[in-house]
Amino acid sequence: RIAGPSGMVLFGVTGDLSRKKVMPAIYDLANRGLLPPGFSLTGFARRDWADQDFAQIVHDSVKAHARTEFREEVWKQLAEGFRFVPGDFDDDHAFDQLRRTIEELDDVRGTGGNHAFYLAIPPGFFGTVVGQLQEHGLSTPKEGSWRRVVVEKPFGHDLESARELNATLANVFPSGSIFRIDHYLGKETVQNILAMRFANEMFEPIWNSNYVDHVQITMAEDIGIGGRAGYYDGIGAARDVIQNHLLQLMSLVAMEEPTSFSADNLRIEKEKVLSSITLPRRLDLTTARGQYAAGWAGGEKVAGFLEEEGIKQTSTTETFAAVTLNVENRRWAGVPFYLRTGKRLGRRVTEVAVVFKKAPHLPFAESATEELGKNALVIRVQPDEGITLRFGSKVPGTQMEIRDVNMDFVYGGAFTESSPEAYERLILDVLLGDPPLFPRHEEVELSWKILDPILEHWAKQDASGKGKPDQYESGGWGPESANAMLARDGRVWRRP
Ligand code: BG6
Repeated sequence: RIAGPSGMVLFGVTGDLSRKKVMPAIYDLANRGLLPPGFSLTGFARRDWADQDFAQIVHDSVKAHARTEFREEVWKQLAEGFRFVPGDFDDDHAFDQLRRTIEELDDVRGTGGNHAFYLAIPPGFFGTVVGQLQEHGLSTPKEGSWRRVVVEKPFGHDLESARELNATLANVFPSGSIFRIDHYLGKETVQNILAMRFANEMFEPIWNSNYVDHVQITMAEDIGIGGRAGYYDGIGAARDVIQNHLLQLMSLVAMEEPTSFSADNLRIEKEKVLSSITLPRRLDLTTARGQYAAGWAGGEKVAGFLEEEGIKQTSTTETFAAVTLNVENRRWAGVPFYLRTGKRLGRRVTEVAVVFKKAPHLPFAESATEELGKNALVIRVQPDEGITLRFGSKVPGTQMEIRDVNMDFVYGGAFTESSPEAYERLILDVLLGDPPLFPRHEEVELSWKILDPILEHWAKQDASGKGKPDQYESGGWGPESANAMLARDGRVWRRP
């Protein structure tokens, strides 16, 4: 799969996302020989830069963040296709220049009129930019070529704003030309969930409420908010991560087998499961939220969230969120899905744990099985990519004593192939026009529908002074309220 003649226009070139993810991914794709030789990258920003200044920015970002080795000849060929257009988003003159730049690239680099517009900018600007693309004739392809738009989350702040955002995009681009990035779907281990479930016979028969006790989905980070106060305050962990990454993970774990792996068939199954998700009645008992307090992380003293630069002392934005979700269908009725995410936790780890019921009867002395838990199948999304199966086993010795052990599949041990970074895969798919790994607007809206009542519940608590995020220790595993949430159901969080 190699992309055909094409180019990309990047809005928001000075942002973190562009420098840490998008630019390095483009270089890595070129280095792996997956981009067309004439590929071109045009930066657009309110900077007084020439093409060479932009090339220098990309160069620095590639040197710092690319995954593959730096090769001068690859870089040289790629950099010849770099252009920069200075301007504001509402500057007509700049968008005219962008059109001329693209036309010139079609001539000199053979991009064939195929261009993707990557909006690595705050969603508040989406409307202005896509409006400009339309007005200046950039959004409509000439016959036989394509124009696509790539957008990054947050896809809105709640259901209503997400609908508006979707309408804004749909005004200008047909739905098949809109690519929403949820970079978790670009991860190998996330794609492997469907391979594991549907390429094998042994998991599916037990993948239901007859055998599964509950499911835990954890995305823990050890970092704090870093320099992202401007983005993060007022957004928080639930909007930042649960609305998108965790609900996408959950739908892959819970959905029915799709008829095929086409985007349409995947979407149908994901939508079905997302629309079956309900919330328990008592949101005060089945959700938890917190803010990290000062403490230690990686041997260094770190500030609490409320002391971070740019965060208001009175902020009620949560840096940790845990929710309980039910899936009202035949397969999952009665099996809770517990989702949690947080910053400044014990370590960086994302995993999905399918925890099975206890055996109905144990023909062993009770003392022999004291250390026996429930079986679990743990999909280790990152960083130790793999799958763990946890089950009871006889302890070697002259007695019958049983203890839990792990059986591990480790990517690095099983495959010699290196896995591409999520952004490489997704950018390549955009250029190929391959949509299965991109959430559709229906999924985005269904996810907000699930989250909105929780966010409203928290907002009400804040407004009435009845509750606010609990403080939790940096380097720990979140607030006590998250443990209490599971304890009430007679369960405990796994320690990843
Ligand atoms: C992003 C969130 O979507 O995912 C960040 O906005 C978070 O807050 C990041 O740090 C984590 O991504 P990854 O791939 O490192 O797990």
